[in-house]
Amino acid sequence: MNDSRRRFLRYLAASPLLAHVRAQGPPVTLSSAKDALSVMDFEEPAHKALPPAHWGYMASGVDDDLTLKTNMAAFKRIQLRPRRLVDVSKTDLSIELFGTTWESPIFLCPVGGQKMFHPEGEIAVARAARAKKSIQILSTVTTSSVEDVGKALGRPPWYQLYMPTTWDATEKMVRRVEECGCQALAWTVDLLGGRNTETAERFRRQDTRNCLDCHTNNRGGRPDAALPMFAGLAQTFNPPAATWEYFDRLRKLTKMKLLLKGLDNREDARLAREHGADGIIVSNHGGRAAETLRATIECLPEVVDAAGGQIPVLVDGGFRRGTDVYKALALGARAVGIGRPYIYGLTAFGQEGVEQVLDILRAELTLTMRQCGTPAVKEISRAAVIMGEARL
Ligand code: GLV
Repeated sequence: MNDSRRRFLRYLAASPLLAHVRAQGPPVTLSSAKDALSVMDFEEPAHKALPPAHWGYMASGVDDDLTLKTNMAAFKRIQLRPRRLVDVSKTDLSIELFGTTWESPIFLCPVGGQKMFHPEGEIAVARAARAKKSIQILSTVTTSSVEDVGKALGRPPWYQLYMPTTWDATEKMVRRVEECGCQALAWTVDLLGGRNTETAERFRRQDTRNCLDCHTNNRGGRPDAALPMFAGLAQTFNPPAATWEYFDRLRKLTKMKLLLKGLDNREDARLAREHGADGIIVSNHGGRAAETLRATIECLPEVVDAAGGQIPVLVDGGFRRGTDVYKALALGARAVGIGRPYIYGLTAFGQEGVEQVLDILRAELTLTMRQCGTPAVKEISRAAVIMGEARL
């Protein structure tokens, strides 16, 4: 490890869990979603609204939360390289993915158990995604069924798969999702080895409520009765024995577009292509899987190179600003996912909060595109950024 990386990791380890550092200014108070000026304005209201166990579950990573913080901090090491005297009077944020045109490259990542954060959970998020014509990826550990979310969204969502531990259950779950009409299935492969959610556990111990009132299994437990995608199935998933053969089996099982979520290097990206994946989501599970990983924005270029323009590469992890999204587009991402920001918006203001998060990020991205002289997403290239030294 070189010196600057070591210094960087020491800096991160010392920073608090609310890792987003706002420029100086008075404390944020929001009386409506529209008052929020940046997406992280929703963080503190969400923190205040949630019981410690639920806040801890969402806000934390693993071990010392370094991967979580690195994802966000790494954007500071990339600088923009704007072009001048380009007509930026009109902007075009649209992108194309699997034959569908979307209004913006920003999509809503799968996040489990959203009724933990707001009584309408995934349904409120679906209504926001419908209003903003955004891709919504529904988690396997959703607290609303894929059918109900499809109704609220006005079309089937994309579906994130945690592979059940038996093939029979996997087949049943995939068939159900297919019957619902989902266009894309994203298999998450970064949690097959397990994880150590230490900070979440510390928050859980501060909670005075009895977790067993809602959860049958209180360590990392979930409200079992409220996991509709496991109706009739055993709630065991993420088989640690999974290999590329499992992927091949899944590939044969479904005609849905099949993405792998959680690939972070060129070797796996090449294998994904060879095995017939339709797309890759560069992700480290928002820092919730393994510790001291590289930021996803730093992994992106090698994955994009290995994908060789043959399959789309999407990315998530630490995106909090339009400039962050812009940098990923410049480094070759087709679309960019957000997780915690919209969950904080959801927690504080339901559907309206999610919509405001999408509006803010789109407005910031539009501004960055104008400032950089690249008014259409397809004009944003690697020439628009410089991967610089740490500037903290
Ligand atoms: C669920 O996907 C989690 O990260 O807890």
